[in-house]
This record gives sequence, C-alpha cells and structure tokens, in this order.
Amino acid sequence: MDSGIAAKRAKLENGSGKTGKRPQIYVHDYVDKEGSTTLIFSLPEKVGALADALKVFEKNHVNLHHIESRPSSEAKDSYEFFVACDNLRGGLEEAIDTLRDHTTSLQVLSRNPKEQGDEGRQQSGAFAVPWFPRKIRDLDRFANQILSYGSELDADHPGFKDPVYRARRKEFADIAFNYKHGEAIPRVEYSKEEIKTWGTIFKELSKLYTTHACREFNHVFPLLIDNCGFREDNIPQLQDISDFLKDCTGFQLRPVAGLLSSRDFLAGLAFRVFHSTQYIRHSSRPMYTPEPDVCHEVLGHVPLFADPAFAQFSQEIGLASLGAPDEYIEKLATLYWFTVEFGLCRQNGELKAFGAGLLSSFGELQYCLSDKPEVRPFEPSKTSVQTYPITSYQPVYFVAESFVDAKEKVRAFADTIPRPFSVRYNAYTQSVEVLNSKAQVITLAKSIRGDLTLLEDVLKKIE
Ligand SMILES: [Fe+2]
Repeated sequence: MDSGIAAKRAKLENGSGKTGKRPQIYVHDYVDKEGSTTLIFSLPEKVGALADALKVFEKNHVNLHHIESRPSSEAKDSYEFFVACDNLRGGLEEAIDTLRDHTTSLQVLSRNPKEQGDEGRQQSGAFAVPWFPRKIRDLDRFANQILSYGSELDADHPGFKDPVYRARRKEFADIAFNYKHGEAIPRVEYSKEEIKTWGTIFKELSKLYTTHACREFNHVFPLLIDNCGFREDNIPQLQDISDFLKDCTGFQLRPVAGLLSSRDFLAGLAFRVFHSTQYIRHSSRPMYTPEPDVCHEVLGHVPLFADPAFAQFSQEIGLASLGAPDEYIEKLATLYWFTVEFGLCRQNGELKAFGAGLLSSFGELQYCLSDKPEVRPFEPSKTSVQTYPITSYQPVYFVAESFVDAKEKVRAFADTIPRPFSVRYNAYTQSVEVLNSKAQVITLAKSIRGDLTLLEDVLKKIE
C-alpha cells in the first residue's frame, strides 16, 4: 500500500481519480495509516459550517486522525478541508453521505483498508470488511471505546448532582479501563448504601421469578445463590460469577465502564464474553436506571448465560456480527434487543420471560406477561426491523419457541449477511477462524469426521 497523500495526488493527476479536479499540495504530507480514509471538502460561507461538518463524524462515531484547512483555490473567502479518518469503526459511509449535504464539494482521496496484524486478511473486495477481533485478547481494544456514561453522567441522570456517586463511578470506570484479558476482575467492596439498593431490587424481583421467569432461569438461579453469593445482603462479585459461568458454558464476564457500540458489544459474544458493568444505580431511585448496572447484568443476564442452549444462541448472534456491514449490525442488535434483552418464550403453553431487561425490572416483568402488550412470533427477518422505544415498556414482544429454535433461526438469518467468508469459533485457542479457502474447509471436514467417528463409537457402546 502506498504511503502517503502524495501518492494519492499522483494517482489523481494520472487520471484515475473520480473527477478532473485535483487537490493541491497541503502544508504537511499526511502519511495515511492502515484503515484510514482521506477526504477533501469545501464548505459554504456560513458561521459554524465546520462545526456542523465535524458533528457528522462524531454522530457516526468516526474518529478523525488528521485535519488541515486552507483557503480554497476555487472560491474566494471559502476554505477547504482535508481530513483523514478511521474507516475501521463507526459509520464512515453514512458520514460521507451526510457530509455531501453540508459541503459544496467533497472528494474521497484515498481509502486504505489494510487491516490489523498479519493474520487479518479480512477483506476480499476493494473496500474492507470492518475490522473485528480474531483473538479473545483483541477485546482489550474495546475497553476505552465507551459511547456513553462511564464516569461522565448526563444532567438527567439520578446521580448527576451527587459528587460522592460520581467519584464512585470513576473508580468503577478506572477498573474497566485498566482491565486486560486474563486478569482477575478486581473485587469491589460495596458500601452499605449500595448493598441496600441491591437488596431492595433483589427482594422484589425474587418474588416474581418462579412465576414469571423461564424454566432455565429458575433452574440456574438457586445455583447462583449457592455458589456466587446471590443474597439480599450481598452484591455478588463479577469474578465469582465469571468462574461459575466458565464452568457451566465457557461464558465469562469482563468489566466495562459504560455502553459499547453494538458492533463491539456483539463481537464479545462471539467469544462467549459478556461485557458487564460493575457499578450500581443511584440509591435515590432503586427501581430506575437509565443505563445497565450491576443489578441488570447480574440478575437479568447472568443466570441464562449458564444455560448451554442460551449460551450457544447468544454466541451465534455474536459470530454473525463479525465483519458484517453496518446495516446488518443494526439488525443483529435489534434481534439481540428482542431476545437477550426483552425476549419471551412459550413453555407448557404459558408465556415466560427470558430477556434481561424484563428479569431485572419489577414493573416490566409483570407488564410483559399481562394482556397489554402485543406478542408476535420470533422471526428474524421481521423482528430485526421492528422499531422499539428505549425509555418505556415495550409495546411489542417476540416469542421464541425455544433457545435451540431461536439459534437455528439466527443462523439462517446470518446466512443472508453479505460476507465473503464464514467464521467458526475455536474454543481451544479462543480465536475466530475465518473460513474462506478450500484448505480450511478440508481441515474443518476432518474435524467433523473425527466427531462423527466419536458419535458412532458412543452409539455402539450405548447399544
Ligand atoms: Fe442488558
């Protein structure tokens, strides 16, 4: 790959650029990085035009590496801007589309899709498949890519005006920011006030689980009481839970400071890693939180990650997300929303809840099984495009026949995602194998043949 903007200019001058116009020399030659795209655009003469343009990058979560400006050679009193931005994360294509509405001219000078590391041949076309983690250790890269909260709270957050709470949030954020794969998750000594908040929620929700939660949840919940210190007077430690889950299904927790992007969060599931917050909501409103907190994670999510079929289902969504185009990430995040967060299932003819958003909300857990909301069968092609509110109870829920059935449906949906490869998780190496060659398929076939031989052997012995 060429090494700088100068080479791009030469390319344009040789006539392979999109237009006859070509950008002139900039003050500093920019050496474009792997995974960066460079653009040049002109802005209308208007106060705040540049700020508006930069907001487009921010809104689409596109990181800028470099920006330069100079007076435009085309129009007096006008400026043009050269920017280099990250094309491995965020919605660069959407940003460029939107930017065209804000600019008087825009030209993409270069796209450098070269991916990370020696093993990362992740694209087959001219423009890259979005980068995705290949080894479980790669998840360390997500730690500081929090979209919201962390230690910064919005003005309408119940803890916004409480300096003690905000300082506490910073402690939790620091744990998550500094955490590296393979380390023990630091144990936290929760305060009396924090334990009281947890106790209120634990007590109320525990009353509903036997009647409202699915069979699998009710099977695991007592085991968590026995093994992980799930009690009204104790907030369980993430490391204890992670050890328990690892023994059950290989799932593990890692601390996170706030909300990750859907792409990053779903990628964790591909490795059977669940990013979990460790802080607790503000004590002033124990039954309300505007964000995931330890109560939501530990009471809502954790029990089902100990169930093999649910773990497999969750990982299937994660694997489908790796390298998927942005619009499919949104669809997969919606499937996740209507299953892992707000899913219902039918068991012995009755509706039961399995979504963590329901199992951690005293009010919605009762509401979702009442006759007020609409219920529809889980069908990925339809469910994935259903809109939903995030600050009120759901008007529509989707019902899965079983976790195995839901997994098969997600797998079929994943086949519709335009990716030039298939992925397979290798649990021995905790890495994702990208399958896109005949040699790899032969290796896979040998592995399956080994499993079939084992199956045959077992069947003979059982007979
Ligand atoms: Fe959640």
